[in-house]
Amino acid sequence: MLIRRRSQHIPSVLAKVAHLSYGLLIVAALPVVNRAQPTSKPIPSIEKTGESIRLLVDGSPYLMLGGQVHNSDTANADDLNKALDVLASWHSNTAEVPIYWEAIEPKQGEFDFSSVDLAIQAARKRELHLVLLWFGTWKNGESHYVPEWVKRDKQKYVRMQGPRREETEIISPLCRAAMEADSHAFAALLQHVKSVDQADRTVLTVQVENEPGALGTDRDYSEAANRQFGGAVPKELLAFLGSHHQELSSPMAKIWNKSPKSGNWKQVFGELAPEAFSAWLVSNYINTVATAGKQEYPLPMYVNVWLIEGVERPGRWPSGGATVNVLDVWKAAAPAIDILAPDIYYPKFYDVAAQYTRPDNPLFVPETNFNPYFVGFAYATFGYFNGIGFSPFGIDDVEKGGAAAAIGAEFEDTYRVLRPLLPLIARYQYTGKLHPILQGLANGEDWKQSIRVGDRLAANIDFTAAFDPAKGRACGMIIELAPDDFIVMGTGFDVIFRETEGPLRDAQLISIEEGTFQRDQWIRSRRLNGDERHVSLPERSTVLRVRVAR
Ligand code: DGJ
Repeated sequence: MLIRRRSQHIPSVLAKVAHLSYGLLIVAALPVVNRAQPTSKPIPSIEKTGESIRLLVDGSPYLMLGGQVHNSDTANADDLNKALDVLASWHSNTAEVPIYWEAIEPKQGEFDFSSVDLAIQAARKRELHLVLLWFGTWKNGESHYVPEWVKRDKQKYVRMQGPRREETEIISPLCRAAMEADSHAFAALLQHVKSVDQADRTVLTVQVENEPGALGTDRDYSEAANRQFGGAVPKELLAFLGSHHQELSSPMAKIWNKSPKSGNWKQVFGELAPEAFSAWLVSNYINTVATAGKQEYPLPMYVNVWLIEGVERPGRWPSGGATVNVLDVWKAAAPAIDILAPDIYYPKFYDVAAQYTRPDNPLFVPETNFNPYFVGFAYATFGYFNGIGFSPFGIDDVEKGGAAAAIGAEFEDTYRVLRPLLPLIARYQYTGKLHPILQGLANGEDWKQSIRVGDRLAANIDFTAAFDPAKGRACGMIIELAPDDFIVMGTGFDVIFRETEGPLRDAQLISIEEGTFQRDQWIRSRRLNGDERHVSLPERSTVLRVRVAR
């Protein structure tokens, strides 16, 4: 057990706060071997060049093919190890693991990083990368992961009030003491991660809070909050929205285009006012927390989003989270947050993914349904939206066996073929040469799909079995390596390549090979000819390389 005093590392955003002079004690049980020697591996980063936004790991574009463990797994080594075994068995490359504020700072100023070390060790053992999920002030629009000393001190750590002035259990985003305490703990966490991981770079990114915002009320109705709500909308926000008016999300654009460009929240944002107000407060708070962490160790950081549900009102979802209504408020207030990431549990995956794919925001899906219907969206995330990560939630359900194990098998089947091709797919993003295939997407695509590929070909796809959402579905991708050279991967469909110019005929097949990629090299496992001379993707996912005559 290592115990040492922490004296120098109060992040500078907080250093100015006079009363922040905790004599911090760091307790790291079972420390990860400190390999904090100077490293040649660059820190993971987000790179924006022209149109493209990429996650760079070891200097190369990286796609996270992940899974998220259940909320309480980090509290038990066995649970966490078993969950990560599941991911390793799927050929996943990244595990999303929660870190609880209440666990790392049980007494104010005394830190215990054993849960962090546990996660890092468990990931390294399986050659997985990690996304750490900071369950701090907010978790699903509530505040249940704050330490006991925060829970008990309601005077200092002020709660939000609901519309009838009733007290909630949710920390108010106006509570400076809570923001400082959270920032302090988060900075200590990042400092620790740096100390044990800057050589290995196991940790790729950190989620700051979890589905933040307020559940059960559309905003804080405390006196202080009411005063701010009745006051003028901050100039910085107005200036940001004004200068980005052409790129605003559609609900915000609708409001902005007809609203006065100054005034109080109600006057400027109309029906969106409570949610926009909440978003401004929550995103400012989280930006402070993230900045404190980045000053210690500047990993990419993101915030996940509980999405708008149907025609309901904010408060049914955590009001103040980065929903499509107020995504631009977040962009204005939280530059330390690199990505706003939707938790997509809805079948309308494409609609949501499109809202969160913007020149200032790459798509990262940190949570999606652990359900066969959603497996194929991995292809859509990487192939259609140029996304950087995809991850079902609660993957250790497979341990229950039965139906859950069968679902796990569906994810394993897709992940097994995708994993070795991720570097190739990352390279082909933003080129228009990735063509995801997904059965049952909209009207008529239950049976067939037709995609223009190469410079003069149609790829006509016939799905082998009828669409049944409960059983998963055919899915895959065509990658154009060259106009006459294609990777066709996935399960449950046949492809006929037809010429789109000259005589009406099928393209002449030169060769069909089954195989995979290893370090950018095509590794053939067999050549298909004779009775097997078809571009046919069987029930078990497969990767084919198809060459046609030009
Ligand atoms: C979304 C949250 O972000 C997760 O932590 C978990 O609570 C899931 N919902 C459960 O569906």
